[in-house]
Amino acid sequence: MKHKPAKLNPEINPKPNLYLVGFMGTGKSALGRRLAKRLSMRFLDSDEEIEKKCGMKVREIFEKLGESRFREMEREFMESGHPESGCVVSCGGGLVCSEGRPELVKRRGVSIALFAPAETVYKRVAGSGKRPLLNVENPLEKIRDLMQKRMPCYLKSGVCVASDGNISDVEERVERIYLQGARAMARAKRGK
Ligand code: S3P
Repeated sequence: MKHKPAKLNPEINPKPNLYLVGFMGTGKSALGRRLAKRLSMRFLDSDEEIEKKCGMKVREIFEKLGESRFREMEREFMESGHPESGCVVSCGGGLVCSEGRPELVKRRGVSIALFAPAETVYKRVAGSGKRPLLNVENPLEKIRDLMQKRMPCYLKSGVCVASDGNISDVEERVERIYLQGARAMARAKRGK
C-alpha cells in the first residue's frame, strides 16, 4: 500500500540535511533519490560531487591519487562541499569510517545508517567494476571483512535501519525517523 508523504511542520525551515550512511550496496542512493522527491529536497551523492569537483571517476582517484587523498576529499565534501540544509545526501561507504566522522555527520543533520547482509551487498555490487575496494580476487570475503571492521562506525553514525526489505517500507521508516530527527533539531535550535 502506498503511504502519503508526511508534511514537515512549517516551522522546520530550513529542512536539515538527511545523511544516508552505510556499506556499499545498502541502497543509499536508490533510497536517497526516492526520499528527496518525497520530501521535496535536493539529492546529492558524495561520490558524484567529488567526481564533478576533481574531474575524475572514483576509480581513477584511487588509482592515480590513492585512497587517502580520496578520504580527504570526502572530508572536504562533508565540511564545506555541500549546502547546510535541504539535501538528502548519499554518503560513500567509507565516509563515516575515520576519526570524528560519525560525530561530524550527526552534527550536520539527521543521519541514518543502512544495513544489509554481506550476500545481498555482493549480489548488488558484484561485477560493476565501480568500487575499487572490491576489485579483488574474492569480493564476498572482502565485503564480509570490511563490513565487520566498519560496523562500529556505522553503529555510531546514526539511527540504524535494515534496508534489505521492501523498498517502500524502508522508505517510510527512514522518512519517519528523519521527520522525528528534524523536529528534534528544530526544537533544540529554538531552545538555544
Ligand atoms: C567506498 C564506497 C563507495 C565509494 C568508494 C569507496 C567505501 O561508495 O565511495 O568506492 O570505502 O566503502 P558507495 O558506498 O556509494 O558504493
